[in-house]
Amino acid sequence: MRKKIIAGNWKMNMTFEEGQKLTSEIVNMYKDENIQDVTVVLNPPFPHIHPVKKLIGETSGVAVGAQNCSDKESGAYTGEVSAKILSSFGVEYVIIGHSERREYFKEDNELLAVKVKQALANGLSPIFCCGESLEIREAGTHEPNVKFQLTDSLFDLTAEEISKVVIAYEPIWAIGTGKTATADQAQEMHAALRRHLGNKYGKEVANNIPILYGGSMNAGNAAELLSKPDVDGGLIGGASLKSRDFLEIIKSY
Ligand code: 13P
Repeated sequence: MRKKIIAGNWKMNMTFEEGQKLTSEIVNMYKDENIQDVTVVLNPPFPHIHPVKKLIGETSGVAVGAQNCSDKESGAYTGEVSAKILSSFGVEYVIIGHSERREYFKEDNELLAVKVKQALANGLSPIFCCGESLEIREAGTHEPNVKFQLTDSLFDLTAEEISKVVIAYEPIWAIGTGKTATADQAQEMHAALRRHLGNKYGKEVANNIPILYGGSMNAGNAAELLSKPDVDGGLIGGASLKSRDFLEIIKSY
């Protein structure tokens, strides 16, 4: 059985107080609802990690993740945060290759491959993001385009390593636009990515890798997206900033 994961990507939002309030509400509701089979991952900005982790405490099923990590191991890289530092703060996941980092910070497949290795070497599970632009979707080349992102950044990993990776398919045209992929579009792509992983690593390995959908997922459309056989959860931006909306998504799973 693949892990079911609902991850919230706070992006560059939330002051200290707002983050504390949001986390407390999510943790309390998660406990009250007695949710057991869905792992929740909160991915706040770096300064929140330690206090968020403290609020989560021993709540099993809720984990903290980062939104990025350095490709470097340690040393004189002002402003960077290494996977090793994250790991020492109890971080379990790290988002790597979000389209915003690819676009605004010019992160390419080669750099992302190094970040993935850093994460794995320090015991973190990378949430590796991939997805196509609107232009590529309209040209009909989205499938080979997104497959290539996986090949180029992940296919140097061993089967054991890739088994610790979570994939997030996030079509760029659906991020923050309110325009979600249809459940069928998501399923089609997730199945294609799983086949691609299967061709390289074998069916058993591929069948155990969670593939999350991201892009305008909300309380209204989550149930349908999450009902698809190859959609193993969500990576949620906007709707993860409101505890009720986020919990509704978790519950709809
Ligand atoms: P939205 O849910 O705001 O569209 O963002 C999705 C996303 O980028 C998650 O990483």
